Amino acid sequence: MKKKIVIVGAGHAGGRVAQILAASDHDLDITLIGRESVPPYNRPPLSKGVLLGKSQLEDCLLWRPEDTAWDKVRFLSGTAAKSIQIESRTLLLDDGTKISYDSLVLATGSRVRHLTVPGSEAEGVHVLRTFKDAVKISRYFKTSKRLVIVGGGFIGLEIAAAASSIGLKTVVVEATERLLSRIAPRKIGDALLSRHQRQGVEFRFSSMVERFLLSSSGKLKGVLLSSGEYIRTNLAVMGVGVSAEGALAKSAGLEVDVGIRTGQSLETAVNGIFACGDCASFWHPLFERHIRVEAWQNAEDHARVVASNILGEEAACNAVPFFWSDQYELSMQIVGLPHLASSAIAKHLGASTLLYHVDALGRLVGTTGLGDSGDIGKHIRAARHAIAARAHPRFSALQDGVAEDIFL
Ligand code: APR
Repeated sequence: MKKKIVIVGAGHAGGRVAQILAASDHDLDITLIGRESVPPYNRPPLSKGVLLGKSQLEDCLLWRPEDTAWDKVRFLSGTAAKSIQIESRTLLLDDGTKISYDSLVLATGSRVRHLTVPGSEAEGVHVLRTFKDAVKISRYFKTSKRLVIVGGGFIGLEIAAAASSIGLKTVVVEATERLLSRIAPRKIGDALLSRHQRQGVEFRFSSMVERFLLSSSGKLKGVLLSSGEYIRTNLAVMGVGVSAEGALAKSAGLEVDVGIRTGQSLETAVNGIFACGDCASFWHPLFERHIRVEAWQNAEDHARVVASNILGEEAACNAVPFFWSDQYELSMQIVGLPHLASSAIAKHLGASTLLYHVDALGRLVGTTGLGDSGDIGKHIRAARHAIAARAHPRFSALQDGVAEDIFL
């Protein structure tokens, strides 16, 4: 009997698990279940090339359709898993089908947050998570005069860079008083702010959307802010964060905190059930805590670990997290977990900036770079090794700025 592997979620993490298993020498029965109608694709181009109409689905696919390894995978598109029966090792699908598994991989990803203020369901108010979302927004890019982005985080800023590059007037409405407050230090957020402002992007900080106003036909016609300001527009995109999609796991009785709880092997407390990618809250041996990471690289790293464990090799997820964002000519790269630090040491390389984040015991726990991708890339790679080695850097070797409190 072939070992039955069922993967729930055909995003980056789930798609890569299927691909790695299909490419192995093992004779497996692999089923990949995805809500969307299309095969797994890379998300980074959605907020760049796809919005600008320069990249098509084929350019984003993880796995070329002509790849014969696909023959080894039963891909159930447009299908969702409804429940898991742990005792009988079966999964119930939304079309009523039951399938059994030996190993189950939960790669359910993230659920995008929506604002619930009046009018947020209007035609013209969007989120950007799927390829379909990106195509819808790209159509508006061709005709709209103004774009309002809610949220000055990863997604909001990438959309702002794409929109302003084609001359679309853009206003970013951010609830806090600075950009990228979830993930990047203030210094980096402020440097990006200047770059966006030079491009003509406008910002409203400490601002919320009070309501979206609709025309008589139900289309967006403007956005009313908490300050009382009214911005006329037929296009708004919400980039106000995501949360782990853990409902299926939770209803099966698996432990879910900020994500589906696993050990360092990415196996949950139930033998044979794994979680990987955005939805996993996994034990990280280097940082000695459970963490959840929303990033392309994390999906890659997790897929390899889960596939190896299914194939009987013992693997642990100890990779140092890595995030990046490209805006205009600037590359932002982050390794490790900067928010664990108590201070940072700044280093300037021409127009590029690096911040080394050090915890209270002097250990390097993260590094952030902003500037030319090549210039900062080599330092970020070196920092990644140093973080993995639990290095305590010599301040004199790094410093040409002052140690400062980074998350104030
Ligand atoms: N009004 C305005 N801004 C808000 C509101 C609100 N009601 N709620 C939250 N925000 C702001 C936050 O302060 C933050 O600056 O929205 C921003 C959200 O930024 P992120 O947490 O980076 O989330 P997002 O940009 O949606 O990206 C989500 O998508 O690209 C992936 O993996 C990437 O983690 C990223 C995820």
